[in-house]
Amino acid sequence: MAGNIIQLLKDSSSYVSGERMSAELGITRAAVWKKITLLRKKGFIIDALPSKGYRLVSSPDLSEDELSAHIRESVFWKKILFYKSTDSTNERALSLSLAEEIESGTVIVADMQDKGRGRLGRSWVSPPRVNVYMSIMLRPDMESRNMPFLTIIAGVVCARVLRNITGLPVSIKWPNDLICFDRKLGGILTEARSEADKIVTAIIGIGINVNSERRHLPSSIRSVATSLRFETGKIWSRTEIVAGILDEFEKTYMMFINKGKTPIIKLWKQLSSMLGKRVSVMSVHETLTGLAEDVDDDGLLMLRMGSGTLKRVSSGDVSILE
Ligand code: BTN
Repeated sequence: MAGNIIQLLKDSSSYVSGERMSAELGITRAAVWKKITLLRKKGFIIDALPSKGYRLVSSPDLSEDELSAHIRESVFWKKILFYKSTDSTNERALSLSLAEEIESGTVIVADMQDKGRGRLGRSWVSPPRVNVYMSIMLRPDMESRNMPFLTIIAGVVCARVLRNITGLPVSIKWPNDLICFDRKLGGILTEARSEADKIVTAIIGIGINVNSERRHLPSSIRSVATSLRFETGKIWSRTEIVAGILDEFEKTYMMFINKGKTPIIKLWKQLSSMLGKRVSVMSVHETLTGLAEDVDDDGLLMLRMGSGTLKRVSSGDVSILE
């Protein structure tokens, strides 16, 4: 597998001889050469010196081979399915899961989506080769009422990973927005199929604006959206971001299984950009205005209304009023 070659090259700070590669991978030196050629076609820059062997100079910013190599030892993550283009990674995960073709722990990653979807029937702008579009498919043994909590987990995971990698103050706006300097950096769309109050399949879709530029955005969202590149002027590795999300998701999900919701809600509150502020929450049926006082252990927003009563809200679009 080309993925093994990548791992060998990455594990070594200098050249790896063709002889060592063929011995460690159990393939001929001609086969090593073929795989190196393939990797170069995929955007890897690999230096070759006849006397020394091969050295990895740089990787493409989103690499299927590196991501597959990253999860090779994992028990939690089963497979990464990579698409150059798809309608929506959530839709793709849903149809594959309906056909029982994929196991829990499968991740769909795409380089572009032509029908990317957001919450409340909106579309998700998904230009090619610049951003992260991924869906995690799980078959958790869990009641349907826990579904909003999967969004809470994913929000905590993404905010922490993006903070760690970039140093930017990424925060979360309930229920699913990733925010940086008051603009939307990403979003999470969790969709599930349930039977008799149990989740059969959960699909956690994550979209992050990584390397997109202003020109990639329709004018309607230019003033409210941002990307890591807008904020830093740098190009970021989407492989590092996706790999970071997978590592952190596994840890946080296992924390939830072993310790329950409380420690994750605590992390969520530390990352929240709206608690303690006056907000309006717009849902299909009504718009509520009040103080975003807290988030309960199920991930529902606790809104202190003007009348003094506390209302638990399960969905809606939040605008911060002050
Ligand atoms: C939102 O904030 O409205 C949620 C946006 C979620 C977008 C991601 S991109 C990957 C996955 N596939 C989709 O079609 N949507 C989610």
